[in-house]
Amino acid sequence: MEIARRHSLFVVEDCAHAHGQRWNGEGAGCIGDFGSFSHQSSKIMTAGEGGSLLTNDERLARLAHSIIDCGRPKDDAEKEYTFGANYRLGELQAALLLVAMRRFPEQQAQRAELGSYFEGSAAQVPGVRVMPHDRRITRWSFYRYVLAIEPELFAGRTNQVVCDALEAEGVGAWTGYEPMSNYDLFQPALSRLPVAVEHAARLDPSTMSFPVAEAAGLRGSVYIDENVFRSDRTGVEQAIEALAKIQRNAIELPGG
Ligand SMILES: Cc1ncc(COP(=O)(O)O)c(C=O)c1O
Repeated sequence: MEIARRHSLFVVEDCAHAHGQRWNGEGAGCIGDFGSFSHQSSKIMTAGEGGSLLTNDERLARLAHSIIDCGRPKDDAEKEYTFGANYRLGELQAALLLVAMRRFPEQQAQRAELGSYFEGSAAQVPGVRVMPHDRRITRWSFYRYVLAIEPELFAGRTNQVVCDALEAEGVGAWTGYEPMSNYDLFQPALSRLPVAVEHAARLDPSTMSFPVAEAAGLRGSVYIDENVFRSDRTGVEQAIEALAKIQRNAIELPGG
């Protein structure tokens, strides 16, 4: 925020996944000029689609309101129009979210408890690494649980093979996003992004090396679906058992 202030910039805090999280005692979404949460269908507070934007600044709130409402002024007293489109959240979705917000504190506490239980047990499975917790996170919330496997202890199988096996055991799992350097968006020959095209000589990812991101994204990362942590201890135990079973029998999996 200090850097942004120095350069007269506004900060939009992307806290799409961080409902309920606190950083040094401050709620996610309350640090930037705006905090932006997602309520898309897979998120931990969902209305099927949509999002919410927090701000403490009355002027920014009016401007944001105008942008989501086709550029119209928020009320008649204001005459200024801005550029906008119809990004309005429907009333049905808002009604769902009002209930979701009331229920969230209890769900959040239960989730954190199940998450801690999960990672305590997952860490005992050979070849599984769990997330370190930054001490500045003063209230932990998470969306999908991201862990890392060491492929050598999974008979050399990659995260994709392990995720497929977890799915077959009834535990939703995903390898996560590819390393950003692999995205077409950043390949000078494929991209239509002005920065990637105009600065191709300096920004061509094919000329760079990203060993950590590639090891994580292409071989190690496993995202456990958020609904596992909306079940109960038994559900979490089943997910752990599935992971342990896959590790013990990894030699039987395809991809050897
Ligand atoms: C970090 C981050 N920001 C923003 C979004 C986009 O959210 P939405 O789908 O509500 O536009 C996502 C989607 O998962 C995300 O992961």
